[in-house]
Amino acid sequence: TAPILRRLSDLRALHSEWRREGARIGLVPTMGALHEGHLSLVAAAKAACDRVIVTIFVNPKQFNNAEDLAKYPRTELADAEKLAPYGVDAIYVPDPDQIYPEGYATTVSVTGLTDVMEGEFRPGHFDGVATVVAKLFLQSGADEAFFGEKDYQQLMVVTRMARDLDIPITVHGCATVREASGLAMSSRNMRLSPEALGKAGQLYPVLQELADQLQAGVRFDDILPAAKARLSEEGFGELEYLDLRCGETLAPLERADRPARLLVAVWLDGIRLIDNIAVDPV
Ligand code: PAJ
Repeated sequence: TAPILRRLSDLRALHSEWRREGARIGLVPTMGALHEGHLSLVAAAKAACDRVIVTIFVNPKQFNNAEDLAKYPRTELADAEKLAPYGVDAIYVPDPDQIYPEGYATTVSVTGLTDVMEGEFRPGHFDGVATVVAKLFLQSGADEAFFGEKDYQQLMVVTRMARDLDIPITVHGCATVREASGLAMSSRNMRLSPEALGKAGQLYPVLQELADQLQAGVRFDDILPAAKARLSEEGFGELEYLDLRCGETLAPLERADRPARLLVAVWLDGIRLIDNIAVDPV
């Protein structure tokens, strides 16, 4: 298995060695509890880069809910075993003081893109994400970074952040990996009861049907009420948002007249699910 590094100085030493070899370095930031979704990013990084670093850090600054942070799964040993077949070159599991040393005082905040959806319902979340991802980009000195479309708004935010701060890294978005039911894989799915897991599988078909209708040119407002009704019939709880937005700027759209994205956040049995799907104009 790959070496586990816990200190920035060890990561930097490895980085210098790889640079001397002229290697292209890929980075896959995660919070652990790895599943096939994460591993697809690792495979993409291995295919595109000579050396790949996977980071595992449960970033307290991006949790706006103390219970969610406390219940977040921590499975380092199993994670390292899952990474072994991929030939990852290093696993960076920083001690907390390697990211936030005593007296740490700096926040990276992306405006605009973070005002809506996840930003609205999880105050402070994206400041935490942008801050830790900026640090991981700078600490690793990677050339390429791999993120999932599962967290579509996060992908937009980190891409903007790297560009705005002139961090010389290319951010790649990778397709969402789903269960056979269509449910987007997520570390939080482990907390769903078997019954709730069954219901959760109904979310993606609802998105797909909406996407098909939008692709046929209908107005979003004309089909939204029926979709909301169907979600509550299927047993979903509070719907935080179900939005049609521009795939690049996240500006709201009335119809899919340019590359668009449908994005949803909904509660099910005490777990918050997010998902999204591309809607490409015909
Ligand atoms: P985490 O939720 O562990 O996700 C790590 C990466 O895996 C993210 O880029 C996420 O979009 C991707 N991912 C998760 N589920 C996926 C799926 N089903 N298919 C494809 N990709 C998937 O996202 C975070 O951690 C954190 O916010 C982080 C970026 C590490 C910063 O702390």
